[in-house]
Amino acid sequence: MPGDRRLDGLFERNFPGNGAILVGMSADAILSQTPPPGARPDWTIDQGWARYTDAENRAVWITLYERQTALLPDRAADPFLRGLDALDLHRTGIPDFARINEELMRLTGWTVVAVPGLVPDEVFFDHLANRRFPAGQFIRKPDELDYLQEPDIFHDVFGHVPMLTDPVFADYMAAYGEGGRRALGMGHLHNLARLYWYTVEFGLMESAGGLRIYGAGIVSSHAESLFALDDPSPNRLGFDLERVMRTPYRIDDFQQAYFVVPGLQTLLDVTTQTDFAPLYARLAQAKDIPIAAIEPTDRVFTRGTQAYARAGGRTGKAA
Ligand code: PHE
Ligand code: FE
Repeated sequence: MPGDRRLDGLFERNFPGNGAILVGMSADAILSQTPPPGARPDWTIDQGWARYTDAENRAVWITLYERQTALLPDRAADPFLRGLDALDLHRTGIPDFARINEELMRLTGWTVVAVPGLVPDEVFFDHLANRRFPAGQFIRKPDELDYLQEPDIFHDVFGHVPMLTDPVFADYMAAYGEGGRRALGMGHLHNLARLYWYTVEFGLMESAGGLRIYGAGIVSSHAESLFALDDPSPNRLGFDLERVMRTPYRIDDFQQAYFVVPGLQTLLDVTTQTDFAPLYARLAQAKDIPIAAIEPTDRVFTRGTQAYARAGGRTGKAA
């Protein structure tokens, strides 16, 4: 089913190495638009917090949590670090959604809901537009700390939820949900998904102390938290809405380009104050920009060597 256009959006908003779940579990359900057995009509399920094992809590959540928080103080953007504090996600292990939802609701009106895996685009956007973040409820195995086949609760909760405590980012994600429904109707999800990818998943931000990471795909990955800021390979370019929507991306490896926003307010303002309909019409005529290209109009933070990608990336290294 990879190759089926109806799955494009799912591929695009998913996390690196995402093929497995589509084949293994939910592609049929997603294509038939029917929630799997046991899920509610909006595809949510109970988190089943009491059922996590000691090993899952200790060997996986706490290990990953401590490894990431040791790395993030000078790397993650302030809104992320503030959110992490506010939610107190450490405690004794995998957080109980009911507990974090009290604080999240109080701060920005968002909640986290558990889903069995990927959900159809309409369902995903409907949750976001209503300030519900659908999160995977399962956690990776202790031998999969570094490579994730599909987004698990660590990626979804540690990676995404702290940013949702920020009022500006919270508004951006809800607006994105509305924008997603509109893009679907207009047949331009493909372009809009790139905005999600280069901001929500892999965004960088300027700060007084230099570049910082805020994208969930970076902050939840030990290796990419280093690569995204320190490696000479990738391009780091100023965020421009139309430019980003013309740029394809990697779903299976570190990014070849990262886009830097001056701050969250700018991101919210340009996206909510722009009517995407004429933009989509223009994009239908425009060519994609090759993934590693630098345009004359780009603001260049780093002109990447692309050495990592040229050496074959993850596979090149393993071989
Ligand atoms: N302004 C966008 C539109 O006209 C909607 C949107 C807002 C999309 C914020 C993404 C983020 O479709
Ligand atoms: Fe994600």
